[in-house]
Amino acid sequence: MACSSLVKLNVASSSWIAGQQSFNSRSGSAARFPNRRVTVIRAGSYTDELIKTAKSIASPGRGILAIDESNATCGKRLASIGLDNTETNRQAYRQLLLTTPGLGEYISGAILFEETLYQSTTDGKKFVDCLRDENIVPGIKVDKGLDGLASRSAEFYNQGARFAKWRTVVSIPCGPSALAVKEAAWGLARYAAISQDNGLVPIVEPEILLDGDHPIERTLEVAEKVWAEVFYYLAENNVTFEGILLKPSMVTPGAEHKEKASPDTIANYTLTMLRRRVPPAVPGIMFLSGGQSEVEATLNLNAMNQSPNPWHVSFSYARALQNTVLKTWQGRPENVEAAQKSLLVRAKANSSAQLGKYSAQGESEEAKKGMFVKGYTY
Ligand code: 13P
Repeated sequence: MACSSLVKLNVASSSWIAGQQSFNSRSGSAARFPNRRVTVIRAGSYTDELIKTAKSIASPGRGILAIDESNATCGKRLASIGLDNTETNRQAYRQLLLTTPGLGEYISGAILFEETLYQSTTDGKKFVDCLRDENIVPGIKVDKGLDGLASRSAEFYNQGARFAKWRTVVSIPCGPSALAVKEAAWGLARYAAISQDNGLVPIVEPEILLDGDHPIERTLEVAEKVWAEVFYYLAENNVTFEGILLKPSMVTPGAEHKEKASPDTIANYTLTMLRRRVPPAVPGIMFLSGGQSEVEATLNLNAMNQSPNPWHVSFSYARALQNTVLKTWQGRPENVEAAQKSLLVRAKANSSAQLGKYSAQGESEEAKKGMFVKGYTY
């Protein structure tokens, strides 16, 4: 990956500077005129609902199904089984996933791409209603930029979304520079505040990529730096911590490092980082899988739930929930039922891992295949 793409930012650099100025002038005027009403950054009218939504997503034995691939990335998934990237094929694939009977036992939220949020089944039932019937909260990927985010979020809320996701990528081999980390953190914090203003629980996702040959200690160092900045700016932006969810990468060695780490080591480093950086007010940590195999992602999550944590520690996997499903489906209507069963197998395995009760016995060879792709873009 070229180092110029070391941080994929969705915010113009100037907005960080502008944001700083507006904070400075606000606090300055409050100090000089103590009786004057300070501009409220967020009205907070949704606070109770946000806390309720976040709690319901972070409920025991459940996690998030991430199917928010952009049309281009969904095309890569479809191409892997020889299908064209048409709206009909994307709809058919999402219908398979979202109409899986009994999914709500293991899945509490589903992150959708905009196209999916507005789509229905071939029988005319809105996907959003399919989710609601299973007690699954619909979510929406919004990481297109801060311009117009407030009005887009309000529209998504009207369409039934109750949480949002914004992913910013951080690459270890390319730095990351202090400025890059600050910008990533600032963008995530602005997005979080805007989401909460519009009734959406923000998932805060600075994805520290697996790319690189660095040891696990280096990942820990970068993750601590990134999360420190993220929480600093979340607080500055008056974000309600009880109404957010996090989507971190697990702390692992770089994918090209000479030694692999065991689930216990990964759990130990990851929980160390989280305990040092994440306040217990945050209800849920929903990990991304980042190119780990389905079984690896589940084993690592299981290792993190061997003793109680201050937050719900769970999953928000895309690749690690979809791989076997796609391979089973192959785009054939006669395979839909089997593919839905394979989704339930993975969802159930991760549900058990959330409860610390997973065993990898009997897992298929397909589920053990790593999915890391160097320089992967979503
Ligand atoms: P993966 O589990 O494939 O890394 O998904 C990351 C993501 O952000 C999807 O919403």
